[in-house]
Amino acid sequence: MARSALINVMVQTAMKAGRSLSRDFGEVQNLQVSLKGPGDYVSQADRKAEEIIYNELSRARPGYSFLMEEGGSVEGDDPQHRWIVDPLDGTTNFLHGIPVFAISIALERQGQLVAGVIYNPAMDELYTAERGGGAFLNDRRLRVAARSKLSDAVIGTGIPHLGRGHHGNALLDLRNVMGETAGIRRLGSAALDLAYVAAGRMDGFWEDTLAPWDMAAGIVMVREAGGFVTDRDGGGKIFETGKVVAGNEAIHRSLLKTLAKQGR
Ligand code: IPD
Ligand code: CA
Ligand code: CA
Ligand code: CA
Repeated sequence: MARSALINVMVQTAMKAGRSLSRDFGEVQNLQVSLKGPGDYVSQADRKAEEIIYNELSRARPGYSFLMEEGGSVEGDDPQHRWIVDPLDGTTNFLHGIPVFAISIALERQGQLVAGVIYNPAMDELYTAERGGGAFLNDRRLRVAARSKLSDAVIGTGIPHLGRGHHGNALLDLRNVMGETAGIRRLGSAALDLAYVAAGRMDGFWEDTLAPWDMAAGIVMVREAGGFVTDRDGGGKIFETGKVVAGNEAIHRSLLKTLAKQGR
């Protein structure tokens, strides 16, 4: 599989940040950790990985803008191109020694998502996608699952923690979805949830209250694997609402219907 120059840059960057995360994961008890809000942690590992990504991408593509979880927005000379970066998606897992976390890097060109890379260093799984070029796990081309009935489907989600609010709505969603599906999974990394949908490991995914950096690369991944990704109304306001629903065409449609049931 020949990768484009753009994907190569993103992959080299993600792998370098991955080496840093792997080193820190081995000594997680020695890391400095601080709270950004209730239940919302950030560690030295997040910050180091983000610095690596920022430096590598700035060198490879001077002038591009950035939106990063820890560092926020950086306006470059080239506002048409923006990197959307989560240096460590799954910080809570990471800090608990659970090897389910990832680096997520996406590129937006003129407001359109054009490329995404998601890398889980603990499992050495590298997901890449470029608009029009398909999605891959390492060298294998990805396709969303073929299951079309919600009753056969395994669906991923995220559950808000303390301080996040919306707990009642999340419970209603869980009740509605658990009554109609073969199983619900909560991995703890939205980027990997979307990558798993692209890989056909999970049939669908929904979550509310996400940020653009949690989803950007995963959205490209699912679409390039032949799947559908929208907001909860079936529209394109995913970043604006922070709400995402993904799956193959049939599961995506059924999931939207099931989530609309509670009438909120
Ligand atoms: C979190 C993960 C998690 C999701 C949270 C996110 P972080 O990102 O994606 O799965 O449920 O809403 O904040 O903070 O670990 O990068
Ligand atoms: Ca975080
Ligand atoms: Ca995240
Ligand atoms: Ca993060």
